[in-house]
Amino acid sequence: MKGIILAGGSGTRLHPITLAMSKQLLPVYDKPMIYYPLSVLLLADIREVLIISTPEDLPHFEKLLGDGKNLGCQFSYAEQAVPNGLAQAFVIGEQFIGDDSVALILGDNIFYGSGFGQLIREHIDPDGAVVFASQVHDPERYGVVEFDAKRNVLSIEEKPVKPKSNFAVPGLYFYDNQVIQIAKEVEPSARGEYEITSVNNEYLKRKQLKVGLFNRGIAWLDTGTFASLNEASTFVRVIEERQGTKIGCIEEVAYYRNFIERDQVLALADRYGKSGYGDYLKKIVTPVIPA
Ligand code: G1P
Repeated sequence: MKGIILAGGSGTRLHPITLAMSKQLLPVYDKPMIYYPLSVLLLADIREVLIISTPEDLPHFEKLLGDGKNLGCQFSYAEQAVPNGLAQAFVIGEQFIGDDSVALILGDNIFYGSGFGQLIREHIDPDGAVVFASQVHDPERYGVVEFDAKRNVLSIEEKPVKPKSNFAVPGLYFYDNQVIQIAKEVEPSARGEYEITSVNNEYLKRKQLKVGLFNRGIAWLDTGTFASLNEASTFVRVIEERQGTKIGCIEEVAYYRNFIERDQVLALADRYGKSGYGDYLKKIVTPVIPA
């Protein structure tokens, strides 16, 4: 299965922070935002990743992440010149996807929780589409799932004024190869965007949409406003400092999923200078011998 990270957009709700800098490169505590969604794809054992961003920002992502070889992966890059919707990712990524299935993750979505890796690994290479639903207090900001009494999905509405549930669709989607054709046929919405929700509704119409529920132990964090960006940083900091473990550490995930060996982790650690990030990488490959 291939993976796409969509890291475009102009981040207008974070101006002036994002006037000269891509939102997905902003720090979430101790690492650039894009590390978090990238670590999710790696956690799902997806090693071939296409990063889509604006022509101005793409070179910065390339400088940060390179070709992925040192993580046992293959990263490539493509431009989205105009930020006109998530569904465009599959049209831009058509050649990259080829005949494979594909996961899409938004470059500003952060996930954390027990069992999360296993949950997403259950959904790789789907027949049809798999999306998720996560409880939020402000569903009107997202794609919202409507369920019947038996938890069957009746509809997904994009940013409804009157949401039919509190279950929002996070920016992590798994599709079979039909997604390319479906995305090509999507009509722009009232806000002028090629909506991922239209893609999901087409799968629903074909009876090929599965919606997995996140339990309450899985945190889905938003970084769309000054406050939520700051809260996401605090969340990561609290967990990391308390436990001495990192969230969204791409090298650690690559190591634990056996993409790279101990020596490669140590070589990567040298890149990180005095920040403490490199020391963490050295620590995770050093076996702790019980007393
Ligand atoms: C997009 C999707 C929406 C989804 C959200 C998750 O919203 O359109 O369905 O719930 O991502 O972050 P947007 O980023 O366009 O506001």
